[in-house]
Amino acid sequence: MGAIISTQGLRKEFRGFVAIHEVHLQVSDGSVHALVGPNGAGKTTLFNLLSGFLVPSAGRVEIGGRDVTGLAPERIARLGVARSFQITTLFPALSAREHAELALQAGTGLGWRFWRSDRQLRRFRDRAYELLAEVGLSEVAEVPAGALAYGRKRALELALALALDPRVLLLDEPTAGMGAEDVDRTVDLVRRVARGRTVVLVEHNMSVVASLADRVTVLQQGRVLVEGPYQEVRQDPRVITAYLGEHDLGESELGEPDLGESDLGESDLGESDLGERDVAHS
Ligand SMILES: Nc1ncnc2c1ncn2[C@@H]1O[C@H](COP(=O)(O)OP(=O)(O)OP(=O)(O)O)[C@@H](O)[C@H]1O
Ligand SMILES: [Mg+2]
Repeated sequence: MGAIISTQGLRKEFRGFVAIHEVHLQVSDGSVHALVGPNGAGKTTLFNLLSGFLVPSAGRVEIGGRDVTGLAPERIARLGVARSFQITTLFPALSAREHAELALQAGTGLGWRFWRSDRQLRRFRDRAYELLAEVGLSEVAEVPAGALAYGRKRALELALALALDPRVLLLDEPTAGMGAEDVDRTVDLVRRVARGRTVVLVEHNMSVVASLADRVTVLQQGRVLVEGPYQEVRQDPRVITAYLGEHDLGESELGEPDLGESDLGESDLGESDLGERDVAHS
């Protein structure tokens, strides 16, 4: 399998603070690749760099062998890379179906900001219902997003990321804040949507990583600490030390993939998630 995502010497500084140092990441085409690490390790920043929401300070990002460094998010999206966000980004008053229609419309090149008439959106209706069915939201299609339970909001976000039928799906903490039942449902869902695609997911819950990921990259303070299959990574003393150092968690947190509550960190709903683009690009 070739690499669908490849970064070389990727670096991101925020006013002198180096959030990503010299990251060389290779994600195999068709794989599920987990990105883990303590809070503040740079996982979301890396997603922002891969998806064009941030411009690297140095280094290179390639998608499918093509240099996309510095391309705007819409251009990268058009190359088949979709992402979800760590925090919820829905419009509370719009129904699930309307969200799906808008996401489908965005794929036509008009973008989210173009508000089109109901009649124009209607041509996306059948596909919108299909998308909602794919993530198990058929029966709440007409419910305003603001009234959906948390797990369903996250499922809706996944549907929106799927609207463009991306080759690569970047999921930032898809199970954050979920109870065990929603976590299980999300794992099934991710497994299903991963067929025929590449999925990169940021995930704190190690049982989720264990059940989904082909490979795991552990980031710590902006650097790749370890990379490999989950079974190797979980036993790596550097990984255990990194987590112990930062979180005071027992070894079992990494060693027992069957523990339901093996969260390796609080998801911090910081402002960094939507990552401002700091350089204007054509
Ligand atoms: N826009 C920004 N401006 C300044 N510093 C930032 C910005 N975005 C992120 N950072 C800093 O970069 C570091 C990495 O943040 P990032 O959000 O990528 O971490 P993370 O691994 O996603 O953490 P978490 O698990 O908490 O989501 C943190 O120290 C954060 O404060
Ligand atoms: Mg994050």
